[in-house]
Amino acid sequence: MDVSKLEETARELVAPGKGILAADESFGTIGKRFEAVGIESSEESRRAYREMLFTTEGIGEFLSGVILFEETIRQETSDGTPMPEVLEGAGVIPGIKVDKSTVDLPLSEGEKFTQGLDGLGDRLAEYREIGARFTKWRAVITIGDGIPTESCVEANAEALALYAAFAQEHDLVPIVEPEVLIDGDHSIEQCYDATEWMLNRTFGELYEHGVELSGILLKPNMVISGKDAPQQVSVEEVASATVECLLRTVPAAVPGIAFLSGGQTDLRATAHLNAMNSMYGGLPWELSFSYARALQGQPMEIWGGDVDNVQAAQKAFHHRAKMNGAARSGDYSEEMEEQAA
Ligand code: 13P
Repeated sequence: MDVSKLEETARELVAPGKGILAADESFGTIGKRFEAVGIESSEESRRAYREMLFTTEGIGEFLSGVILFEETIRQETSDGTPMPEVLEGAGVIPGIKVDKSTVDLPLSEGEKFTQGLDGLGDRLAEYREIGARFTKWRAVITIGDGIPTESCVEANAEALALYAAFAQEHDLVPIVEPEVLIDGDHSIEQCYDATEWMLNRTFGELYEHGVELSGILLKPNMVISGKDAPQQVSVEEVASATVECLLRTVPAAVPGIAFLSGGQTDLRATAHLNAMNSMYGGLPWELSFSYARALQGQPMEIWGGDVDNVQAAQKAFHHRAKMNGAARSGDYSEEMEEQAA
């Protein structure tokens, strides 16, 4: 593996003022998101939608990278340009989701295991050929009655580490994503404990499998109360619980942490990232974003599958990316939302 190349790409992905767009929804997930706003999911509608996002003028100012789905990396824009080339042309690094989604963890009700290690090396070699420079693998941890279990935490942490080792061997930066879900009525303390446990285990496994930490990025959840929790917490509490948890679990050699939005509203996801960056100085890693829903919610709804709405949808997408770009340095404020309205 070429460590200096991995480090260079990882650092580019967390360059100041920029973050990552996760546009790697699998067939099932994009189908659900489209259905919610009345768009029929077909190969062509998915292609047209992603073309709308990636050809937004000036997006390279706020996006360092885009995570693609396997279908999209092989698609072209309407003028026949391959999607990875369109992104490179805009100064945005193309990446790809390489896990094969989750299955129910056997003998453990309510828990998930992420699959996709079989044949991974061959797939990575091919993705690199067609333009990917980084990768993502998402593990899912659920908080509930008696869960997460040791079995779930351990199995997912080891799969994440093996994936990261495969990716580095192919000179592709691994984005290691252990997501503790927001679903449920748990407290912020329960989320803290599950996140701390999963991150400790993940970094233990990364060590055991020889992964070079300076050539990875971490994509964690924020430490936050469950979406049905009786008591919701303030932006500052989420920011401090998250950073304190990361300080106790993530080695300083990791260049950056790019959060997932995980079902938070788009404004909250921006406010939380902004609070972390304004409340804490001198952290060992960059704190950035790798959002799917919190960047795409509005643009997808405005687009609605209609070519006449492309410009308005791109405007909303550009605005959201710009707001999160400002949150990278703690310079975001709610007035900036109003100015744009
Ligand atoms: P959300 O920002 O919608 O959580 O998606 C991020 C992601 O890539 C999940 O794998």
